[in-house]
Amino acid sequence: MALHWPSEDVWQAVVPLLPDFTVEVLPELDSTNAELMRRVRAGQTAPVLLVAERQTAGRGRLGRQWLSDDSAAGAALTFSVTLPLAPPDWSGLSLAVGASVAESLHPQIRLKWPNDLWVAGSDGKTGDHKLGGILIETAAVAEQRMVVVGVGLNIGPRSGEGLATPPAWLQQLWPEATAPAALGRLAAPLLQTLLRFERTGFAPFRTAFESRDALRGRRVSVFGGAADAVDGVACGVSPGGALLVQTEACIKEVTSAEVSVRPA
Ligand code: BTN
Repeated sequence: MALHWPSEDVWQAVVPLLPDFTVEVLPELDSTNAELMRRVRAGQTAPVLLVAERQTAGRGRLGRQWLSDDSAAGAALTFSVTLPLAPPDWSGLSLAVGASVAESLHPQIRLKWPNDLWVAGSDGKTGDHKLGGILIETAAVAEQRMVVVGVGLNIGPRSGEGLATPPAWLQQLWPEATAPAALGRLAAPLLQTLLRFERTGFAPFRTAFESRDALRGRRVSVFGGAADAVDGVACGVSPGGALLVQTEACIKEVTSAEVSVRPA
């Protein structure tokens, strides 16, 4: 079934903020992040929102794959946006993006530091069902830094086969959700978030993140990266977006982009 994308509406809402902005929808790509990184490395600096109805080699954080359910175009929303960005400090960007996407879509979406969107389990306590993820990459081009922000969201039911965390999908929360409708809700606020982040950094997004923090109060293990593993209780995020973990000795700030965090 053909999907009807709200490209014109998104463009109309965003172009007053970003004059060269364009929206592009392609039936299939390896990865919207990979495609925009190729374009950026080839010198493209105009802001673009690129949707792929299907991705054949979606990428996740830490070199992992992002596996879409490939049963039908539109079973997932997969898109990336690129623009030049010069924030005072890049830390916390994935948290601000997550808060923006969650706020646009549903009050029950939780955020798992640093880049996952989760939905609470049916018992209301567990949050280990992954609705989506965020992948942020940057590249320097012509003396400016371009950011590529990729977002993948499950829209319709999907199996958990091959996934580290059981999946959730948007139609569990919003039964009429489609990939185009979800994009229509979240795209303009996301671009506004990126432009605001450029002016302010993470600090003004902290409250929004913390109101959806899926880890707060839960025992977590942080592993990977250069530092020793950290075990403790997650207790929010710092003004710079670091994960705060209360250990027996102290509160540790976890900032590495290379770590994995798992609830114990
Ligand atoms: C993660 O969960 O580790 C991040 C997943 C990010 C997936 C999105 S889908 C659109 C964009 N293109 C990609 O290849 N990855 C991101």
